[in-house]
Amino acid sequence: MKAVLVGFMGSGKTTIGRLLAENLKTSHIDLDQVIVEHVGKSINDIFEEEGEQSFRQLEHRLLQQQLTQDGILSTGGGTPIMPANQYLLRQTNTPVILLEASAQTVVQRVLRDHSRPLVNKLSITQLKGLKQKRDALYRECADLVIKTDQLTPQEIIARILPKI
Ligand code: S3P
Repeated sequence: MKAVLVGFMGSGKTTIGRLLAENLKTSHIDLDQVIVEHVGKSINDIFEEEGEQSFRQLEHRLLQQQLTQDGILSTGGGTPIMPANQYLLRQTNTPVILLEASAQTVVQRVLRDHSRPLVNKLSITQLKGLKQKRDALYRECADLVIKTDQLTPQEIIARILPKI
């Protein structure tokens, strides 16, 4: 991979990943999408029918596989939380870029769509708590942290390009 994007749900990993790939004329891979295609079910259905544990195992396997491919990889918001993935992300030579948005911004964004099992299950306070707990773990595996709240997608891309 040329770069891996990490960050909480709603932090812009997919949007920025697509733009970045377009800019570099390379492919964009969304880890959630890879999982959905592999299983043939939506993320909601995987969580509901097979459980989060099984989703996490698959996420780990497919992350490991994707890291050897070319392109830009957007991970899921929970990917860096698993110790085995934290290890993979720390030891890879690929730059890991953290997109960090405020709790208010991410909550506003994710409440608009119901495709995320954790959003459907948790209250706003719980979501903000989860973000706070995870923020340190995101930072631990990141080579570059971008605070995105005041930036346009183009400005975010312009900060990432010189680093990859
Ligand atoms: C998750 C984030 C989601 C998806 C799954 C679990 C999480 O990815 O992997 O719903 O644990 O934060 P996005 O960050 O792309 O929404």
